[in-house]
Amino acid sequence: MTKPILLRAEGIKKSFFKGKTEIPVIRGVDLSIHAGEMVGITGASGAGKSTLLHVLGTLEVPTAGKVFFGPRNEEIFRYSERELSIFRNRMLGFVFQFHYLLPEFSALENVMMPALIAGHPKSAAESQARELLQFVGLGHRLSHRPSELSGGEQQRVSIARAVILRPKLLLADELTGNLDSANRENVMELLARLNQSTGVSVLLVTHDFELTKRMHRVLSMKDGRIV
Ligand SMILES: Nc1ncnc2c1ncn2[C@@H]1O[C@H](COP(=O)(O)OP(=O)(O)O)[C@@H](O)[C@H]1O
Ligand SMILES: [Mg+2]
Repeated sequence: MTKPILLRAEGIKKSFFKGKTEIPVIRGVDLSIHAGEMVGITGASGAGKSTLLHVLGTLEVPTAGKVFFGPRNEEIFRYSERELSIFRNRMLGFVFQFHYLLPEFSALENVMMPALIAGHPKSAAESQARELLQFVGLGHRLSHRPSELSGGEQQRVSIARAVILRPKLLLADELTGNLDSANRENVMELLARLNQSTGVSVLLVTHDFELTKRMHRVLSMKDGRIV
């Protein structure tokens, strides 16, 4: 049985403008991601991977094209700003090359943060965050601040934080870019385990083809197109 489609992008284009000069970066991308699917996109630096991820994550508005999401096929760029931010918080999780953890807060507090901001009771947020930190192998590092953690550990905290609100889709951009090979392997293993246990879909973009070996499907991108 094929799983339902979670996200469908049609005819996506994105240009940046320098004065009147148009710089086309995404030149027409069609893409579907099924529920529970892990999709990798590779391609050389400058191919447009991050820009595409930002558009699919609603962080950037496309110049042309449509993105549909969820069982009701809702067209997300028709949402108002407010609806879009609710959508983003409920449905999507993000992890980037730089973790953006808050330096003044512990691992536990960093992971709790999205749940607290969403108005969940503190006790519930804390127990979910504990559970997630155990899942990512950091049950013994709850009270450490980011500066007291290794790069690989910081990235695992940021993954835990990205999934505390149970997103349907996790968007990852070069998330192991600053890690050595052992830590890269750990983080990729963690993504696969998370996908297995929660059913979250994953879209991973990276210039490193090696990293996509755990993905269910791998696409490659060149000059703003899937090739
Ligand atoms: N805000 C921007 N303004 C102008 N050009 C941009 C902007 N963001 C990205 N680009 C250009 O778009 C191209 C693709 O960038 P990017 O999506 O970051 O590629 P990748 O992630 O594959 O390395 C690059 O040539 C980059 O310079
Ligand atoms: Mg990039």
